Amino acid sequence: MTAWPAPGQAPCLEAEQLRELGVERCVGLPPIVLEIGFGRAELILGLAAESPARSFLGIEVSRKRVAKAARRVLRQELRNIRLVHSSAEYVLERALPAGCVGECWINCPDPWPKKRHHRRRLIQPDFLDTLACALAGDGLLHISTDHRGYAEWIANALPRALELDNLHAPKPWSDKRPDRSETAYEAEWREEGRAIVYFDYRKRR
Ligand SMILES: C[S@@+](CC[C@H](N)C(=O)[O-])C[C@H]1O[C@@H](n2cnc3c(N)ncnc32)[C@H](O)[C@@H]1O
Repeated sequence: MTAWPAPGQAPCLEAEQLRELGVERCVGLPPIVLEIGFGRAELILGLAAESPARSFLGIEVSRKRVAKAARRVLRQELRNIRLVHSSAEYVLERALPAGCVGECWINCPDPWPKKRHHRRRLIQPDFLDTLACALAGDGLLHISTDHRGYAEWIANALPRALELDNLHAPKPWSDKRPDRSETAYEAEWREEGRAIVYFDYRKRR
């Protein structure tokens, strides 16, 4: 049984609730669609509106962004999205069981350009291993970035993740704009003339 919020009730949930009650009750029948660091939430809201039969989970570390996104979910009367205010690392390690994610989006994660800050980058080998474990067989992972240095960092880290195949091989990424709406950051960077690159990986069955 899925614990959808009653009409008009905030679509938010604590990581601990997710861990204790499980994905099926809190979000919906796996495999779910996950967006990490959804920012202004236009992508997850758009995807959820297009696919009412799929269940969406957004994880965002900014409380303000979660609150704003929750108001938009309510205004648009979307019943298939739940939002967690937490770090993705915590939710993936503690609250999401193996194989429950059918598709995961990570767009324009903070690049932390200074070398001494690289350890703060979201995409790290351990994080990718945990994420790969949360993906279902045939599950998709999409990552975009506008930052060349971070693109190279991601291109180096992703092939080391077990069980993930690069859908653009032998190229490390695609420069082609994908067939989906842009996120706020992607649109902003593109208008500034920056190149955005797209990683698309699939987990082996
Ligand atoms: C540069 S913004 C990109 C937002 C959105 N994906 C886009 O493309 O417009 C990065 C977002 O990731 C969130 N974030 C950063 N670290 C995070 C983490 N460890 N877990 C979840 N969200 C995180 C930030 O709060 C911010 O909203």
